[in-house]
Amino acid sequence: MRKILTGLIALIFIPAFVIAQTDSPKADKQLSLTKGKELFETKCSICHSTEKPLNKNYTQQRWNKVVSKMAEKMKHKHKRLGELTDEEKGLIVNYLVNAIPPKK
Ligand code: HEC
Repeated sequence: MRKILTGLIALIFIPAFVIAQTDSPKADKQLSLTKGKELFETKCSICHSTEKPLNKNYTQQRWNKVVSKMAEKMKHKHKRLGELTDEEKGLIVNYLVNAIPPKK
């Protein structure tokens, strides 16, 4: 009986929790960070390790420049790698700005 009750409570609360999560701007932010991380880990590890960028402590402005420069490299030197769209670049920059802890 106890198990059934716990199960029922979970059934009611879990979806409510999920809805609350996906509806909030915080969830949007989390989603774009997750996408940015995925892109970063797949695209930015092709030519060098992800340590290269992860060691940097750049501003958003600087990241915009670096990510554009890397996207140019992909486009011109390694056509088979494909291109990064503006949206993908934005997601990667957003991830880098938010995910790298500031170093002093
Ligand atoms: C097509 C190959 C290639 C890909 C893909 C690539 N890089 Fe690079 N990256 C390089 C090369 C080559 C260098 C060293 C020469 C230079 O600095 O331009 C470099 C250097 C860097 C540096 C150090 C130099 C600087 O300006 O700070 C950072 C940071 C960096 N890459 C980040 C990234 C990020 C972020 C991505 C994903 C968006 C990425 N790279 C994808 C080739 C690549």
